[in-house]
Amino acid sequence: MKLGSRPTIVPARGTVVVCLVGVALASGQAAAGGQTASTQKPVMAEDILKNVQVLRGIPLDEFMGTMGFFAAALSLNCTDCHVGAALDNWERYADDTPRKQTTRKMILMVRAINQANFGGKREVTCYTCHRSSNRPKVTPSLAEQYGTPPPDDPDELESVEQTPAPGAPSADQILDKYIQALGGAQRLANLSSFVAKGTYTGYDTSDAKVPVEVYAKAPGQRTTVAHVSVGDGTTKDSTTVYDGRAGWISMPNTLVPMLVLTGGNLDGAKVDADFSFPGRIKQALTNWRAGFPETTIDDHEVQIVQGISAGKSLVKLYFDRKSGLLLRQVRYADTVVGLNPTQVDYSDYRELSGVKLPFRWTVTWTDGQSTFEMSEVQLNVPIDAAKFAKPTP
Ligand code: HEC
Ligand code: HEC
Repeated sequence: MKLGSRPTIVPARGTVVVCLVGVALASGQAAAGGQTASTQKPVMAEDILKNVQVLRGIPLDEFMGTMGFFAAALSLNCTDCHVGAALDNWERYADDTPRKQTTRKMILMVRAINQANFGGKREVTCYTCHRSSNRPKVTPSLAEQYGTPPPDDPDELESVEQTPAPGAPSADQILDKYIQALGGAQRLANLSSFVAKGTYTGYDTSDAKVPVEVYAKAPGQRTTVAHVSVGDGTTKDSTTVYDGRAGWISMPNTLVPMLVLTGGNLDGAKVDADFSFPGRIKQALTNWRAGFPETTIDDHEVQIVQGISAGKSLVKLYFDRKSGLLLRQVRYADTVVGLNPTQVDYSDYRELSGVKLPFRWTVTWTDGQSTFEMSEVQLNVPIDAAKFAKPTP
């Protein structure tokens, strides 16, 4: 099983590398009693995992991020490097295989290249050579040299800022148009909470639709609870919480039932919570920039605006030039081996009490894809504070 050639942006691919978050989520240990995630020492990969020789000293969720990065950089599934038995028994990820051994050597090689040639700066990553293939190419291709180059990936991190054409909109103007398109600053300012119900599909549901609820409270708390089948007719909650400071993911069917979010993962959860209340979008990020080349998403011309999140992650936003609505968010979470992109595509905007909200969104990342479709959204309803507490698996 291989991913499509561009796993992070092709929504309709058949096979998905799915196992990563399962383990990640699986392996995080609950925050020590009473303490919050931000005050405790994060759980390190080697505290939980059995056979970590190179990627030591990083939090567990970041370790799992490196696995997603490898899968994406080489277009390999988890069990292309790990034994197949790991799919049924998470402990078997610790077994060594020839590809795992090669990978360890490659990690050290990349570190040495960057150390020796780039002053330790991470200029070279697995992707530099591998480009979504397990065997890097060696000989230049005349077909590529003389053929039509493939279209630019609109998610390319390295989009180069142009000198804006005269009259090109600034970041501020694009954001203002978005706020206007959603119903205007006044109406958005009155949005203080919402509860949404609908369906969720993801790797942990084997692509079946299961019920999901989303709870969001201004300025920046957000919880998603999906009811995932665990066999014999019973379901368990698969929960993602951002409480305004700390974040957790708790999932059934995994080795360790809870993952404490750190670094770029925590930052991403904050961005999603903040973006639930778009009236405050200008405060959610800093260093706003526009003036990138325009691109298209599904035949919609889009304008790109870029910002930096509180945790210093780069966030790119793609606004429909015509409607002004936000079609896509791409953010990058840092790991020791490279940046991992996460993409959220928003659609099916519907109006409720004069405010437009997306009823459908799809999250695509290096290890899988989840789709949320809402059928009912209630605005400004009281939400029990317990909904934003650390989940109990
Ligand atoms: C390119 C090869 C490669 C791919 C693809 C890969 N891994 Fe790994 N994985 C490794 C290596 C190498 C290690 C050991 C790292 C070390 O020793 O520091 C490892 C270690 C692990 C461990 C720790 C096991 C233990 O107890 O020691 C887990 C869990 C894991 N991988 C899960 C995954 C999952 C889930 C995926 C799919 C998203 C995945 N891996 C994809 C190479 C890979
Ligand atoms: C400087 C270029 C370069 C970089 C950077 C690089 N690799 Fe490689 N890698 C290679 C080459 C070349 C081969 C093929 C060697 C061969 O054919 O024997 C290879 C082979 C591999 C293989 C074996 C594939 C197979 O199917 O047998 C794995 C796994 C691998 N690399 C993982 C990684 C990972 C993970 C990283 C990042 C930490 C990485 N590589 C970074 C050049 C690179």
